[in-house]
Amino acid sequence: MSTVVLVGAQWGDEGKGKLTDYLAEKADVIVRYQGGNNAGHTVVAGGREFKLHLVPSGILHPGKVCVIGNGVVIDPEVLRRELESLTADGRRLAALYISERAHVIMPYHRLCDELEEDCPDGLRRLGTTRRGIGPVYTDKYAREGFRVVDLLEEGAAAALKSMAWRKAEVLRRMHGVDGPEPEQVARDYLAYAEFLRPYVRDTSLLVHEAARAGKNILFEGAQGTLLDIDHGTYPYVTSSNPTAGGAAVGAGVGPRVIDTVVGVTKAYTTRVGEGPFPTELTDETGELLREAGREFGTTTGRPRRCGWLDAVILRYAARVNGLDYLAVTKLDVLRGLPALRICRAYRYRGREISDFPARLSVLAECEPVYEELPGWTEDVTGVRTYDGLPPAARGYLARLAKLTGVPVGLVSVGPGREQTIVLAKFFKKARRGF
Ligand code: IMP
Repeated sequence: MSTVVLVGAQWGDEGKGKLTDYLAEKADVIVRYQGGNNAGHTVVAGGREFKLHLVPSGILHPGKVCVIGNGVVIDPEVLRRELESLTADGRRLAALYISERAHVIMPYHRLCDELEEDCPDGLRRLGTTRRGIGPVYTDKYAREGFRVVDLLEEGAAAALKSMAWRKAEVLRRMHGVDGPEPEQVARDYLAYAEFLRPYVRDTSLLVHEAARAGKNILFEGAQGTLLDIDHGTYPYVTSSNPTAGGAAVGAGVGPRVIDTVVGVTKAYTTRVGEGPFPTELTDETGELLREAGREFGTTTGRPRRCGWLDAVILRYAARVNGLDYLAVTKLDVLRGLPALRICRAYRYRGREISDFPARLSVLAECEPVYEELPGWTEDVTGVRTYDGLPPAARGYLARLAKLTGVPVGLVSVGPGREQTIVLAKFFKKARRGF
């Protein structure tokens, strides 16, 4: 058996889509374990481009099994539309199973997300994707949520109406707005229950049995380490655990099921939404990275903030995820910059610190301590071997591995599947079945 967790090592958008696609080809089961349709990645299949938000990326491979785990939150309307658009041209999809324990996004969650983001005092503004993610996880932990299986209960209509009524009351008092009409909520969600019913399974059992049968399992994380509710730049985080431990909880398996953890990082850093970002470049170089790297959100279209690579973040990601390998994406984007910088530590009030701080007030004051490395002018998009890379690019990757203590196992030099340089045996093997 072989199982791998793929996590973002930065603030999300590291190019996990390509890596998931690479690993999904030989995986038997692909599991999403957290988040919801706040995620977004682009997958190219049969010459067509697909933007996926909720379903695991293996969905475009018929014959595979895709799982939406208990740690994921589901907006049923989004799922319905996503599946419809994927099958519009008669395309066959992988088998899809949804955990009976996954929580469901309700219309009042979306409304609440919008209202908090637009609050005139700006106090609650986090720059969310406005998909209702924070509020649905809030209700999950407040034990006021609806799991998929709850929608299939006989008393679902009454429970839905009563909760929608309560939420409407809260919305009226807190924000002075009318919430979704309870009768309508009940009608809509009973209809969604029928749509969901054929997909619903005890997916923990399914994944457990697949693991016992020696299948290859890919646990696909959404977002990234610094957006993790526990380990990220709180409160500018998402409301779930993208870090590797979240895979066990969010899929319903024991941690020892996981063999390998791969962290995906860009060759530089990006972030969407609010919050401190020590290596951010607000100058021409930042603009250059944004243009060359096409750094605009898949889900919201927002321009991403761009900056130099931050080894403090990656060391932290290595620790909290237990990374075995780094997969470095978008190395080609750095071409043409006369000199490159990697942040090896932070300077905080005259003192050097090498570990990522928990306090945002500290992070906001941290100045990056950079190492400067030579750039390269050669186009690397056609390079397929490590030795074929310009010496400066090899030097950059070697320094990154040294500063983080994690071997670079794979390098991506363009969006195409073939634009990949494999360094570690693990990724070579993964082409045959990991
Ligand atoms: P939420 O997940 O919509 O609540 O948003 C919380 C924070 O996570 C915001 O800063 C979002 O921009 C960020 N976020 C959520 N999903 C993604 C993602 O897939 N990529 C990058 N940032 C994300």
